[in-house]
Amino acid sequence: MDDLRDERIDKVGLWRHLRDRFRLEWDGIHGGAHWARVGHHGRRMARENGASVHVVTLFACLHDAERFDEYRDAEHGARAAALAETLVGTFFDATSEEMDLLRRACEGHSHGGLMGPLTVQTCWDADRLDLGRVGIRPRAEYLCTVQARAPATIDAAWARSRRWLLRSRA
Ligand SMILES: [Fe+2]
Repeated sequence: MDDLRDERIDKVGLWRHLRDRFRLEWDGIHGGAHWARVGHHGRRMARENGASVHVVTLFACLHDAERFDEYRDAEHGARAAALAETLVGTFFDATSEEMDLLRRACEGHSHGGLMGPLTVQTCWDADRLDLGRVGIRPRAEYLCTVQARAPATIDAAWARSRRWLLRSRA
């Protein structure tokens, strides 16, 4: 995480909890480094477009936390949303509106959708901007927001993902 100070989230406690229960390879394509990059992209865009930084930050570390495998696992988003409901009040606070956005973002993030509230779209874009980690360059037509579709954003995200990919293969 690029910023551990957040009075609404016990980030160290939350990450430790999620890491302890994570079923896949922590250094793999859906592990902590991916969560950190999603958080980086999401917070950057949210500060520009007015999406909820809080929801985007929570989405980043929760959306893939309940995966059973590295592949399709169509229900992992729904499981992530259910997990979030068990953690609110312990590791973070959130209003009912924020929880609704987080649920929608988690549930729909792997279904390829483009339409939704701005915060949900920003969450989905933050995740899709990190496709370079599996060798796929993000394409503007599969991104929701103006901020994500900007060529400079895609170029920077691609470079960030590729640096990780090259390091992870070294
Ligand atoms: Fe993801």
